[in-house]
Amino acid sequence: MSVETRLSQTRFILPGEVPDRESAEGWTTWRLTRHSFVPAPRISRAVYASKSKRDQAIHDLHRRATHANLPLLDTPMSLAVSDLMQSRLLNNALKKKPTTRPGIMINGGGNQGKTETAAEAAAAFEDLWLGLEAFVDVPELPGARDLRATIAYVQTPVTATPKSTCQAILDFFGTSGHNMTLTQLVRQVRASLRDHRTRVLILDDITRLRMHRKDDQDTLDLIRALMSMRVTLVLIGVGIPDSGLLSGGWQNPKTGQWEFPEPGHQDWKDEAATQTARRFDLVDLRPFSYDTADNIASFVDHLTGLENELRLFNARDGMLTGGGMPEYIYRRTGGVVGLIERLIEDGASLAMDTGIEEITEELLDSVIIRTQHPKRDRAAGEEGDVPPALPAKKAVQARRARNTVFDDKGIPEITAARK
Ligand SMILES: Nc1ncnc2c1ncn2[C@@H]1O[C@H](COP(=O)(O)OP(=O)(O)OP(=O)(O)O)[C@@H](O)[C@H]1O
Ligand SMILES: [Mg+2]
Repeated sequence: MSVETRLSQTRFILPGEVPDRESAEGWTTWRLTRHSFVPAPRISRAVYASKSKRDQAIHDLHRRATHANLPLLDTPMSLAVSDLMQSRLLNNALKKKPTTRPGIMINGGGNQGKTETAAEAAAAFEDLWLGLEAFVDVPELPGARDLRATIAYVQTPVTATPKSTCQAILDFFGTSGHNMTLTQLVRQVRASLRDHRTRVLILDDITRLRMHRKDDQDTLDLIRALMSMRVTLVLIGVGIPDSGLLSGGWQNPKTGQWEFPEPGHQDWKDEAATQTARRFDLVDLRPFSYDTADNIASFVDHLTGLENELRLFNARDGMLTGGGMPEYIYRRTGGVVGLIERLIEDGASLAMDTGIEEITEELLDSVIIRTQHPKRDRAAGEEGDVPPALPAKKAVQARRARNTVFDDKGIPEITAARK
């Protein structure tokens, strides 16, 4: 293999700058590159052994990158959310009338895939929508530049207030709201969404807006105002029903949808949109369950999907799905997709570090699931709870005093280094 080929290969494997989805440019970069990672080829140990040391190192790097970039897999829970999003986003975007567009609230515990599921569904909608626009040749908006941001993805700031939330929305578009009053900010948000032809506004981690402060009413009014901005509003959060965000709303028993009154602030109303109920579907993204045969089958399907992504030389068919493994993984993760991903990714990396090259219960016993993420707000419940590291049966055994002189200390030492 030539040096050039090797170089381009490593460049391809090592991530460049990770796109920041919280700006219009970053979102577009992410959308266009989100499926571009190519996993390491599957090669036998014999082929690996025939490679030069250097090519082996590159292949190992590629395997590690593959384990670090496990793809999103369809789960029955994520499909329910993305199907609803896809149809709602398209129907709303096709509406010509100035009525408000029913929104979506996605509720679930930490690490359950809310952000990634919603971002993927929104990006897929945007791909479709831009394709349609190109097809019908939508005229440019009057003005010097045609700025288009079909999706605006905004993370609610950690100590969110109505003003900082508006500012975060403006930040996505690179617009300043410096020194503006709340009323001016709301007006600027409305103008930015219109100028960028935004169809969908995603407010992630909305439950960071704690509803026990004196500006509660402003917060509720802001959400009502955003609901009437002719975009589909997607609100994502942990524990939405208990957050106070639904206060003042009522659930229509026929449709199951939540309906909300107009904003109290006279200045924030959209004249054209009054008279129309602000409606929302509230959907839950749940973890896998392990109670019925169907639910267990879905969980095992997910594990099969992950197993197919692993590149370990001693991997056997059924490595994650055979014997007591599904039950073990469920016990470790509570069926939460984000924790399953952590456990398997770290397990794969340990399998390579130790040369064991397969995933076993013993190996996973020494993986500690860590979920701390700089962008997560633990206080808002975004980390979720990680089940105890050792399953109940093994924890009991471990507590018993015993002679450990002959124990193999190989794996624990490596785990200690990973802490
Ligand atoms: N369907 C899926 N298949 C495989 N992995 C998934 C899936 N959904 C999410 N994940 C992985 O789980 C992890 C957590 O997902 P995500 O950040 O979307 O969770 P979240 O519910 O938004 O969490 P938080 O409340 O902490 O923001 C991510 O690393 C993601 O890649
Ligand atoms: Mg999230």
